[in-house]
Amino acid sequence: MKVLIVGSGGREHAIAWAVAKSPKADKIYCAPGNAGIAEFAECVDIGAMEFEKLAAFAKEKEIDLTIIGMDDPLVGGIVDAFEAEGLRVFGPRKNAAIIEGSKAFSKDLMKKYHIPTAAYENFTDPDAALTYLETAKMPIVLKADGLALGKGVLICNTLEEAKAGVKTLMLDKQFGDAGNEIVIEEFMTGREVSVLAYCDGKTIKCMTSAQDHKRAKDGDQGLNTGGMGTFSPSPFYTKEVEEFCEKYIYQPTMDAMAAEGRPFTGILFTGLMLTEDGPKVLEYNARFGDPEAQVVLPRMKNDIIDVMEACIDGKLSEVELEFEDNAAVCVVLASDGYPEKYDKGFEIKGLDTFKEKDGYYVFHAGTKFDGDKIVTNGGRVLGVVAKGNDLKTARANAYAATDWIDFANKYKRNDIGKAIDEA
Ligand code: AMP
Ligand code: GLY
Repeated sequence: MKVLIVGSGGREHAIAWAVAKSPKADKIYCAPGNAGIAEFAECVDIGAMEFEKLAAFAKEKEIDLTIIGMDDPLVGGIVDAFEAEGLRVFGPRKNAAIIEGSKAFSKDLMKKYHIPTAAYENFTDPDAALTYLETAKMPIVLKADGLALGKGVLICNTLEEAKAGVKTLMLDKQFGDAGNEIVIEEFMTGREVSVLAYCDGKTIKCMTSAQDHKRAKDGDQGLNTGGMGTFSPSPFYTKEVEEFCEKYIYQPTMDAMAAEGRPFTGILFTGLMLTEDGPKVLEYNARFGDPEAQVVLPRMKNDIIDVMEACIDGKLSEVELEFEDNAAVCVVLASDGYPEKYDKGFEIKGLDTFKEKDGYYVFHAGTKFDGDKIVTNGGRVLGVVAKGNDLKTARANAYAATDWIDFANKYKRNDIGKAIDEA
């Protein structure tokens, strides 16, 4: 089979790695890809939002399966564009990807179908939002409706902060049109868990759980980022929690989307908060998490192509997902200054060390070739991943492996997986 992967981050590198393991994959392309993905795939210089060019490429190369890694093209309708050309593609259509593309949509969906989530109101009028805040309980959470690279969520401790937040999102439009509408929701506390699942429109099958670390600095300080590290599984995602979520969250979400005429095929990512009142949905995403994919996929025993094809063909109920009985930890190596200002273009040394080591992976997020050198090319540069028999071993292994890599402004959090000690 010929496979095309759309995207260029650590998640797509992990997907490319998993696809390359499949005996079914004869040739892999990635658009646009990065220097790490180039080990498994021929990288093609077409942007993820260039649907027509991508579909034309897929036709020309007779691609059998295209996998969309990123949210922007999914929300923009890349799956519909490929299907219109008769191409086989893995991911939700535009009318289903809206579950990530519009937080107001997903909140209304949950309310309508009684899926547990934080209490909320949606606002398109900034004055109405400000009036609502006057009597609201603090802290409170403001969310831009649209895609904002995981950064459109403001947690406000005081009324003043919340009012300033409305200004930032709706008037100053810090996240552009994503802030045309906002969700104002109740602040929840608890452990966060990410659960990724394969979906075929009717059936949903969850993968092993993971936990992300979204803040830039140790101790969950600093700005929100795309994710600074992950571990899998989450020790807080017990059998009991899982059973609750299967009954009240995952299948009801699939059924709700189908009932709305928006059957969801692809990867559904449910961000959960394990509150005192039980698990509640923080958000949905319509694709693998980044860097959740980097700790989940290396533990998956199934052939990823088989599972994705079963999703496309509506046969997921016939698949049994299997995961290794171990753990994995990912520590992101970023450019110092991320997610604000940072320099790039620095040579990365030590990547080859990973080639000889079983159970260790280095997934590239922001890298590129500069002649025959590989240099930094983004805020998140690499995801260093290690497995272990248990979470503590995996964490020790991953941190040891971060020392194998060197580049000029290398930055990492030092407390990825700290929660493991509290389990
Ligand atoms: P989201 O993109 O909606 O997952 O939000 C990003 C992050 O903001 C989450 O991972 C949480 O850490 C935090 N967050 C979002 N919504 C809430 C909430 N209602 N209460 C507390 N924290 C939240
Ligand atoms: N790691 C969070 C996300 O991919 O949205």
